[in-house]
Amino acid sequence: MTQLTANSNATPLDTTFNHANSSIETFAPRLLDWFAENGRHDLPWQQHQTDTPNPYIVWLSEVMLQQTQVTTVLPYFARFMASFPTVQDLAAAEWDAVAEHWAGLGYYARARNLHKGAKQLVAVIDEIGEYPTTLAGWEAISGVGPSTAGAIMAMGLHRYGVICDGNVKRVLTRWAAIDGDITKSATTKELWALAERLTPVDDSGLFAQAMMDMGATLCTRSKPACLLCPLQEDCIAHAEGRETDYPVKAKKQPKPSKFSNALLMGDIDGNLLWLQRPDNGIWGGLWSLPLQFLEKVDGKASVKNTAKKPEVGDNKLLNVASNEKVYEAEFTTAEQIINEWLIENDLVAESISNTLFDDAPIKHSLTHFHWYLTPQKLMIDTAQIVELNEKLAAAEIAFKWLTPQKAQDSLGLPRAMIKILE
Ligand code: ADE
Ligand code: SF4
Repeated sequence: MTQLTANSNATPLDTTFNHANSSIETFAPRLLDWFAENGRHDLPWQQHQTDTPNPYIVWLSEVMLQQTQVTTVLPYFARFMASFPTVQDLAAAEWDAVAEHWAGLGYYARARNLHKGAKQLVAVIDEIGEYPTTLAGWEAISGVGPSTAGAIMAMGLHRYGVICDGNVKRVLTRWAAIDGDITKSATTKELWALAERLTPVDDSGLFAQAMMDMGATLCTRSKPACLLCPLQEDCIAHAEGRETDYPVKAKKQPKPSKFSNALLMGDIDGNLLWLQRPDNGIWGGLWSLPLQFLEKVDGKASVKNTAKKPEVGDNKLLNVASNEKVYEAEFTTAEQIINEWLIENDLVAESISNTLFDDAPIKHSLTHFHWYLTPQKLMIDTAQIVELNEKLAAAEIAFKWLTPQKAQDSLGLPRAMIKILE
């Protein structure tokens, strides 16, 4: 590699781009011509064909699109807009309603930030009479990072804004053969500087939309359609036949595994106990069956990194976690109460441990680990329910007894819970 900046100590100011000025100057016109002819112009959140752009629509859609593909987002976006047509509607909504609309999209922190962000935006509008009009104003909203803020400025307000999201980084690392690790801040700075250099000041919204579209439809991760690409003639990765060598990204650590029982605690009417998860942590604010974290029994503090996938009949591998640190880290307050109550009532040994892994565990992959969930049925009689309800109420836990169907219809459930019910 010759023309590269692998040794990227460069600050944005001394960054030397790998392209001649002529290439840089024609980048935007080529991209915009391609977009006009071949881009997508019918996505419901696009605002490039109106003179009165709606920042709410751009903000909402950009948050939804942050880690999720267009085809997945489309029906969710439609339902959000139908139920919450304005930022005031979203801010005034109950969290459960927002969670229910989001359920299945994943990365629930985004939904919590969205709801919080709506309230922050309404506060700004009440104070200054309009949406934030600066990059810093948007970056102050929960869940809005620099690229989303740039997208909203450019596409949602038709002001000047620069985007540099995953799509843009893929296109630019290929086009300019930037082989620094994109998870490193030196590379990030270099890419932002290049994105800024390429963005036309008067047309940044159209340019942002075109870059996103190009990245999503032509310069795709595994099979870029270079022959159709307006940047093909001076794309260095393409000239070298090395498109998929970019972007360079440090290898991820393999994800650790965790194991839990998901307790189907049922009464005689077929209702199950549901708990609302605390705001911080996994599935924050969503509703879940009570979970029991499991750990290896060989004395180690935690199963993290070392646990293997449990086999049916492999009951000795795991036990309900007892180590104190693990206990506090992995059990919510409600789950600690339930776990202790189960132990007191001798409901653990017989009903749970003996049936461990009789059902194939459900595998669910989250951002930082794989989670193996084993559904466990447990019948609770009326007197026990009264006692448990009192304990939960005393600790101000949000809980409900609902049938699986009612829970699915009225609560925000994470996808793993729906898998268990099915
Ligand atoms: N990905 C992120 N934002 C997008 C947008 N506005 N259109 C298409 N794909 C996107
Ligand atoms: Fe991406 Fe290929 Fe276009 Fe280069 S030529 S920017 S690799 S689609």
